[in-house]
Amino acid sequence: MAADKNYLWWQSGIIYQIYPRSFQDSNGDGVGDLQGIRQRLDYLQWLGVDAVWVSPIYPSPMADFGYDISDYTGIHPLFGTMADFDELLQDVHRRGMKLILDLVPNHTSDQHPWFLESRSSKNNPKRDWYIWEDAKPDGSAPNNWLSVFGGSGWEWDEQTGQFYYHAFLKEQPDLNWRNPEVQQAMFDVMRFWLDKGVDGFRVDVMWHMIKDKQLRDNPPNPDYSPEMATYEKLTPAFSTDQPEIHDIVQKMRQVTDAYNERVLIGEIYLPIHRLVTYYGPDNNGAHLPFNFMLLNLPWNARQIASAVDEYEGALPEGGWPNWVLGNHDKPRIASRVGRAQARVAAMLLLTLRGTPTLYYGDEIEMTDVAIPADEIQDPQGLNMPGLNLSRDPARTPMQWNDAENAGFTTGTPWLRLPPNNSRINVEKQKDDPHAMLSLYRRLIALRRSEPALRTGDYLPVMAEGNVMAYLRKHEDTKLLIVLNMGHQTCYFKPGNMHLQGTVLLATDPEREGKLVQEQIILQADEGLIIRLQL
Ligand code: GLC
Repeated sequence: MAADKNYLWWQSGIIYQIYPRSFQDSNGDGVGDLQGIRQRLDYLQWLGVDAVWVSPIYPSPMADFGYDISDYTGIHPLFGTMADFDELLQDVHRRGMKLILDLVPNHTSDQHPWFLESRSSKNNPKRDWYIWEDAKPDGSAPNNWLSVFGGSGWEWDEQTGQFYYHAFLKEQPDLNWRNPEVQQAMFDVMRFWLDKGVDGFRVDVMWHMIKDKQLRDNPPNPDYSPEMATYEKLTPAFSTDQPEIHDIVQKMRQVTDAYNERVLIGEIYLPIHRLVTYYGPDNNGAHLPFNFMLLNLPWNARQIASAVDEYEGALPEGGWPNWVLGNHDKPRIASRVGRAQARVAAMLLLTLRGTPTLYYGDEIEMTDVAIPADEIQDPQGLNMPGLNLSRDPARTPMQWNDAENAGFTTGTPWLRLPPNNSRINVEKQKDDPHAMLSLYRRLIALRRSEPALRTGDYLPVMAEGNVMAYLRKHEDTKLLIVLNMGHQTCYFKPGNMHLQGTVLLATDPEREGKLVQEQIILQADEGLIIRLQL
């Protein structure tokens, strides 16, 4: 990659998320592991990504598939050993790539020694490490807060006669971040991994980490309707996004900044004006508060174009943008917008200004896999039956080839694969210029070679109907991106600009190298990157 002297790796680079249970199994137990990831580093390098973020690999009872951690500085035997981890880190670095770990500081497993101590008696020194409260006089929970995974957020503890709070499962008690000992313990965890050479963290549910001191009731959500998760009945005004969170994030940033070029990413689902506050008042908060706008917006050119403008406009001075199309909690993009539009989405993700994060499998057009009711594993799906909230469909094994179990495992995969993966696999797509994988690879290569795409300015261009258009500009280079987000042929004619250029890259490779002038006829679901002649 051409050197971007003024930009750090996490600004100019591309992040790839691996859900470790589902990437590559190396020992036939049906669950992916660290050696499996190591075996696939050639692929990631060939694809051209710069950094890998791995979802939790720590010891865990797996009530929430690793997001319930019982030891923050160990490796779950399912995934391997600490020696395997060290090898993986070394191999990633040897290839000039970076490794980002998932950090889950909001809650531990109920099997974590800290919680076992905390719940052992009211006088235990770790009692205050979690959020314990008396029942109301009538015996009910301290307030009305709900669990994201359904039901009350409070669990009664018979032995000590108090409730504890859990924003997620009752097996995931929330830590009390108002306690300085908790803060220090988690900062030590960060240092443990940073000392090993890990390149940063994706911080789980950052906006949940601190709650209203008075534990006031959350108000009802006026937009709630019965097909939504029960958690949506209330607006989490007092259980999330509290003013004190910024202090905590700044402290995490200080821990990170004591090391060279490490990144702090925050998982934050909030509206843009709240999201951007997580950059911190002086850019001393999270480097990248994850921007999930593309996951949540309807797939509509006008809405997306104006949301991008709003985001660009809301970023604080020096705040670096970022974009996400998929993750292990949301339906896959190819299922949400369809295969044809997923190609346009790929072009959008890789040409917007800011760090893109790719979700494993999206690059081969994997779709959500229907999981029969009796095979559902995700607690979110199991706890709220009938609402279709299971996240399993987006977490199925990576499809490497057309062998049984797609080359993921020689055993029985922990989640089933789709019945037909003869086309949706790496092997099949890697030499096919029309396949999604080739589109991703070419987009990544172009982003790596064009400073305009990597770090250039973003300038919106007026467009109508289903078309979204913008320029990326660096020195003398101007790239025009035109995306048809609809399924019908249409025209694009920029009102205020003389249009003359060459198609550099297109969702349909046959279009590449063609000249364009004055107006463009866009095929259905077509995206073009055009180098403008100056
Ligand atoms: C985050 C994770 C999700 C997990 C939850 C609780 O949202 O991405 O998978 O269930 O936090 O830790």
